[in-house]
Amino acid sequence: MTVTIKNEEQREKMRVAGRLASEVLDMIGDYVKPGVTTGELDSICHEYITNVQAAIPAPLNYRGFPKSICTSINHVVCHGIPGERKLKSGDALNIDVTVIKDGFHGDTSRMFFVGKPNIQASRLSEIAFESMWLGIRELAPGKHLGDVGAAVQRHVEKNRFSVVREYCGHGIGQVFHEEPQVLHYGQPGTGMELREGMTLTVEPMVNAGKPNVKLLPDGWTVVTKDHSLSAQWEHTVLVTADGFEVLTLGADDR
Ligand code: MF3
Ligand code: CO
Ligand code: CO
Repeated sequence: MTVTIKNEEQREKMRVAGRLASEVLDMIGDYVKPGVTTGELDSICHEYITNVQAAIPAPLNYRGFPKSICTSINHVVCHGIPGERKLKSGDALNIDVTVIKDGFHGDTSRMFFVGKPNIQASRLSEIAFESMWLGIRELAPGKHLGDVGAAVQRHVEKNRFSVVREYCGHGIGQVFHEEPQVLHYGQPGTGMELREGMTLTVEPMVNAGKPNVKLLPDGWTVVTKDHSLSAQWEHTVLVTADGFEVLTLGADDR
């Protein structure tokens, strides 16, 4: 597999898929309240994606993943499986939505806070958010993937948090996870050179403690080894002639 360059027709389909994915997150925010289970959030998103958007939730059955979205609470880094867990005030969770529309994927995630936000969790989320944007702002033809990783890593470590190494951003298009890998750490000027028409995700996972993670026996849920909090934000982005276009902006980002 190699990197795919999207033509104008494919870029337009990526815009549509990206918009739909962000609209799912815009929709689900109101349901993130104490007492709701992550399984209920999954059902609401599943119904919305399939019935309202006439799209496909990409995670469902992807390599055996059993649900339509990922819900990663507190020390869960990513790929949390929705289930019976009830949200309670003070929880921070990432909801990660990927939809397929007309054969193309849109992938985006945001942090949500339940009830009264925990100060440490909001600070961590803010740094993760800023680091994602600093990474995105590096995207332009002639720049390198290492520029993205370095920008993310610099901001995270300056704030004494850590970047998860085992999971990364990715090329995206007709395939959910395609080349290249978008590492959230690295050296400026190294790695693949970016070209107009590439579509990528930038999705740093940022830990309050050490960067190490471990996989739970369910085969999906990734947690911090030291049980410290973790935060993540994700956008799908197109590399344009003069920089980048974020395809998954939400209502609050516009
Ligand atoms: N949406 C995740 C990503 O950002 C991938 C989830 S794969 C799943 O790449 F199977 F866990 F859904
Ligand atoms: Co992704
Ligand atoms: Co995602």
